[in-house]
Amino acid sequence: MKHILIDCDPGHDDAMAILTAYANQDKLNILGITTVGGNQTLSKVTKNAQNLLGFLNAKIPLASGQEGPLIRKLQAAPEAHGEGGLDGYSFEEKEYPLTSRNAVTFLRDRILQCEEQVTIAAMGPLTNIALLLKVFPKVHSKIERIVLMGGGLSHGNCTELAEFNIYVDPEAAKIVFQSGIPLVMAGLDVTEKAVITEVEIESLRNKGRVSRMAGDLMKFYYESGKQFGFTDSPMHDLCVIAYLLEPEIFQGTYWHVEVSTENGKTRGLTYADCRLSGSQEKNVFVLEEVNRQRFVQLFLQSMEYLDTCHENTCVNK
Ligand code: BDR
Ligand code: CA
Repeated sequence: MKHILIDCDPGHDDAMAILTAYANQDKLNILGITTVGGNQTLSKVTKNAQNLLGFLNAKIPLASGQEGPLIRKLQAAPEAHGEGGLDGYSFEEKEYPLTSRNAVTFLRDRILQCEEQVTIAAMGPLTNIALLLKVFPKVHSKIERIVLMGGGLSHGNCTELAEFNIYVDPEAAKIVFQSGIPLVMAGLDVTEKAVITEVEIESLRNKGRVSRMAGDLMKFYYESGKQFGFTDSPMHDLCVIAYLLEPEIFQGTYWHVEVSTENGKTRGLTYADCRLSGSQEKNVFVLEEVNRQRFVQLFLQSMEYLDTCHENTCVNK
């Protein structure tokens, strides 16, 4: 059993990742979920997380964190995720509880309270995680690794060179990449291969309650992806959870990766020293390939499993 903390900014692909983790609690012990300003403002992504967890009748502690990047202004992504950050499905309003602690102290407490090491699944700008590592260095030894969606060695999506999560808060990303904690990077190199097709999305919409909700959300995300040239939808953040569940369906390479905090063209660029003679410590396992068929099957099966759950029974798979 892995103990995980999910830091996210839902976000359609964040939502699919949360759902898949929730469906697989026999393998992933979700110690908590934290939100960070990213795809939309902190209040919107937190509301989205509350709506999603309320829909599931979940009992997972939720904390909201930083409104925006360490030193820059938040740049949200309404063009991909809509004005609400998770457009495409109208959730019934429910009062899902939010802890009174900030995400950063919440993360610290959950990590230090856990008897075993904890994995952080990071799916948004790395602001909360960077603060956690800087303000509470005691947590370092208790973190087994950080599996993050961000970056890309070959290209960007927010700019030519930078991926959104890293571009939004490059200073935070730099802190995390230099932390010395084992890192797995699910960047655009792999996440743009981890796609779901329109037909596969449509198949969700004829199934049960959770599949239909996921299908409606993904339909919105699929349509918005067309403006960026996608014919299938990349399930970026889902790669983090899929990697934790089935690492064998991914391939990757260890590289020394750095983050550019320069202003201008290279802001948020993640770059690797790929020389055979490169002598710097290889600090990141960069995912490059995924078995797409199995990746999508894992997702669809997870949604089908949640369709069969009533109230909290899915906790005991
Ligand atoms: C990342 O940016 C966000 O829009 C997605 O949720 C994902 O975390 C992809 O670049
Ligand atoms: Ca995200």
